[in-house]
Amino acid sequence: MHPVSFALLHQGFPETDVQLDAKDVFRHCPRGGLSELSVRRAERLGSDAGGMQQYWRVVVTGVRAAGDTPAVRKARGAFFTPSGITRYIAGWALRSATDTVLEPSSGDAGFLVEAVARLKSLGADLPVVEGVEIHAHSAEVGRERVRAAGGDPRIEISDFFLVDPARRFDAVIGNPPFVRYQDWAGEARARSRKAALAAGVPLSGLASSWAAFTVQSTHFLRRGGRLGLVLPAELLSVNYAAPVRKFLFDRFSSVELVLFEKQVFEEAEADTLLVLASGFDEGPTDHAILRQVFDADHLTTDGPSVRWAPEDPAAKWISSVASSDARDILARLTKNDCLSTLAEWGDTTLGMVTGSNRFFALSPDRIAELGLSPSDVIPLSPPGSSHLRGLSLSTSGMTRLGKGGSATRLFRPAGQPSDAATAYIAAGEIAGVSDAYKCRVRSPWWRVPLQRPADLLLTYMNADAARVVTNQANVHHLNSVHGVYFKHDVRELGRDLLPIASLNSATMLSAELVGRSYGGGILKLEPREADLWLMPSRSLIKEHAEELQAAKAETLRLLNIGRLSDAVVLVDSILFPDTVKRAELSTIRTAHSTLQSRRTTRGKRG
Ligand SMILES: C[S@@+](CC[C@H](N)C(=O)[O-])C[C@H]1O[C@@H](n2cnc3c(N)ncnc32)[C@H](O)[C@@H]1O
Repeated sequence: MHPVSFALLHQGFPETDVQLDAKDVFRHCPRGGLSELSVRRAERLGSDAGGMQQYWRVVVTGVRAAGDTPAVRKARGAFFTPSGITRYIAGWALRSATDTVLEPSSGDAGFLVEAVARLKSLGADLPVVEGVEIHAHSAEVGRERVRAAGGDPRIEISDFFLVDPARRFDAVIGNPPFVRYQDWAGEARARSRKAALAAGVPLSGLASSWAAFTVQSTHFLRRGGRLGLVLPAELLSVNYAAPVRKFLFDRFSSVELVLFEKQVFEEAEADTLLVLASGFDEGPTDHAILRQVFDADHLTTDGPSVRWAPEDPAAKWISSVASSDARDILARLTKNDCLSTLAEWGDTTLGMVTGSNRFFALSPDRIAELGLSPSDVIPLSPPGSSHLRGLSLSTSGMTRLGKGGSATRLFRPAGQPSDAATAYIAAGEIAGVSDAYKCRVRSPWWRVPLQRPADLLLTYMNADAARVVTNQANVHHLNSVHGVYFKHDVRELGRDLLPIASLNSATMLSAELVGRSYGGGILKLEPREADLWLMPSRSLIKEHAEELQAAKAETLRLLNIGRLSDAVVLVDSILFPDTVKRAELSTIRTAHSTLQSRRTTRGKRG
């Protein structure tokens, strides 16, 4: 493996328009293009002052087949596994010199190379290792690598779902391709779903490719065999993975999950975990062992682990990461009517979709420049949510935002557009705005379907914490935030006090539990997840209304200087002086910070 430093001329790694040292290009790219390099790992070193050039260090494992571009590789889910992981899984799965091993979707045979080393260390002479790979060039590279490691490769070039699972192996290890359902189409998907169904696992049309690969891999296991796979962490959370979660518990006698704090695959932008399941056909098991490690270089068998027994293995597993004690406390607080879901307060819905925020969302200066009249525009919470970090969005706040150049108005002539608006519409047509999908499907294209102003604005993509803010200015909002519409009987109380009351440790923890963690460390809440978000109940807020009211100024001051956690401590002291014991509060806070730091550490690049 040769580390190579090079500069990117344009953003958008990997590999197009890259400048290498002449001698490196010559050595690695005989046909003259960097896309021929097989890059196993890339690390961003920095960029020049203008940000036009980025500097990367890449680890190159070989030369690619002609035409094997990043897009083509992405379509077949080709991201190769770091050696720290392949070595660890091979070491775990292979326990005697005679163990047989298969790597489905073997790529350049990262797992088989480590399997050879492991079997040799156990006393095998010339270990025979088997693989299946759809991409002929990768299979050939894999064979060469296995031979170089001292093994005898049997790698079949085929779609994995077309291989007859006649042979039974002691171990199946690998990293299935991760192709989302939108791109996992046609015959390949139909075949894979049929194969999963044959094992009694009904996969929905929304399942990504890895789900069927996981089930199909077990068709190759002997009774008592071991399955060691690298899978996307969405195994823990997405609905379509529920039958796979249940399948693992039903069929294996032992299931272990290894979670990473730091993201493993830079290129794939998906969080990853390891599934180590043993005792195939000797299940079921009622629990899994969970271990969390920092990254692929820190995998050990003896780190701290927890035993976790879910009531229903098909339910979302993500809550397993928070201590079950903390979840018990939340459940008790809900039962005692201290907490209730946001759905009990009202409805959370998606915001308006314009089709082109650049065209429709306008700043006061831009409106003046275009000569639009007041009837051509309506007040708008500017796109994004960075302005929603206080307790409310007020009229004076809107004026301040507008003066600062934010788009505080939506272009939306109520009746007949003014002359200036008519000219702006014509300009939009020339610029092709009218052809954007959302514009094309409505008539007239420039009239954005309205939603009434919401009571609260909910920030649903969050780096730190999900927040709700009172829409005091009564403005409309786009789909960069959700709108919360209160039930009639709690509207006044909710608008006044829910934003401040929501700044408590239990609500913060609940957001991490119901939301999803995205690449980049972002916590995302869809409306149906926000429905489950635990808020202080109306009776708890009523009981502490005066104190909450009195704490608003101090809370706002803390938020303005970025001290969210101090604001949370303040609100906790108001809401939970008696209902939550000190030790319980610390359990909740620890669970919250574990989940939050897990999410944000994984989001960090490089
Ligand atoms: C995530 S990569 C893993 C490669 C290798 N196992 C590793 O971990 O480094 C997935 C591999 O699956 C292959 N693949 C995709 N669809 C396949 C299929 N239907 N049958 C067999 N291999 C497939 C891709 O070509 C790619 O090499």
